[in-house]
Amino acid sequence: MFRVRSATGLGPDLTRLDIEAPDLARAAQPGQFLMLRIDEEGERIPLTIADSDPDAGTVSVIFLAVGKTTQQLSRLKPRDAVLDVAGPLGRHMEIEKVGTVVCVGGGVGVPALYPKARALKHAGNYVISVIGARTAELLVLVDEMSAISDEVRITTDDGSRGRKGFVSDELKDMLEDTSRGIDLVVAVGPIPMMAAVAETTRPYGVKTLVSLNPIMVDGTGMCGGCRVTVGGETKFACVDGPVFDAHEVNFTELAKRQTRFVDFERRAKEEYEHACRLQQA
Ligand SMILES: Cc1cc2nc3c(=O)[nH]c(=O)nc-3n(C[C@H](O)[C@H](O)[C@H](O)COP(=O)(O)OP(=O)(O)OC[C@H]3O[C@@H](n4cnc5c(N)ncnc54)[C@H](O)[C@@H]3O)c2cc1C
Ligand code: FES
Repeated sequence: MFRVRSATGLGPDLTRLDIEAPDLARAAQPGQFLMLRIDEEGERIPLTIADSDPDAGTVSVIFLAVGKTTQQLSRLKPRDAVLDVAGPLGRHMEIEKVGTVVCVGGGVGVPALYPKARALKHAGNYVISVIGARTAELLVLVDEMSAISDEVRITTDDGSRGRKGFVSDELKDMLEDTSRGIDLVVAVGPIPMMAAVAETTRPYGVKTLVSLNPIMVDGTGMCGGCRVTVGGETKFACVDGPVFDAHEVNFTELAKRQTRFVDFERRAKEEYEHACRLQQA
């Protein structure tokens, strides 16, 4: 059992949990994630380790309540417990001083981008963050990303805040501005967004890393659920990633695989919300 030390609401549907897990807190590196299961009936879900405090013995996750498990997790209070927290999993991202880095985050990807952007800033890079969402209300962690960035750009599809358009439009303008000299792009978000970022940087030959978010079941390389094709080879995102060279990823195949469980996930969420309403009645 792993106790919740604190639970903080960071915005609509966005929660930070600090969980007591001393071994994990000592070992965690930027870019790694954990697999968490709330109770015996629960599914395992992957969440990026947003922060770790070896002295306090805690690891932090920041997540959006998008479906059944993340909604259930967002209702936990200090001293509640989760059954399993496994990690740190995945390969940590190499954090180096390369110069100017553009960190591009879309929607639910921003919580997973945040620890990488912060580590890149701590390493001495000039960090420009581009944060996007469909509409202003869905923008997440803008203050937190601003605090660790040298510049922040915001885009919304409907123009309700920042530039009207996609994060990739903003990125393209920066790449065209030759006075900028961008050395690295790191992107996390929905698959179509990461694919668009890869195609935006490709003609400019700028190294681009993406943190992939395929469906994960065991997180240990055993089930094959997180299979992705990278550079023509089969990779498992949980053990070989989740960070990969964006120009090598087969996004078309990944997008197809990601829709396999959509109906099942929708039913699980509806059943959970129905049960919660009955409990409250
Ligand atoms: C390595 C890794 C790290 C992650 N880190 C974070 C994080 O730090 N913070 C965070 O909020 N989320 C993160 N995610 C996504 C998170 O795991 C999913 O949001 C979660 O599994 C959804 O579970 P659920 O049962 O609540 O929703 P489900 O019922 O499983 O899904 C509901 C809807 O959420 C969306 N969704 C489901 N899975 C994902 C996914 N993997 N990526 C994007 N959208 C998804 C889909 O649109 C789906 O229909 C990460 C995913 C991976 C693979
Ligand atoms: S989640 Fe099972 S192999 Fe990666």
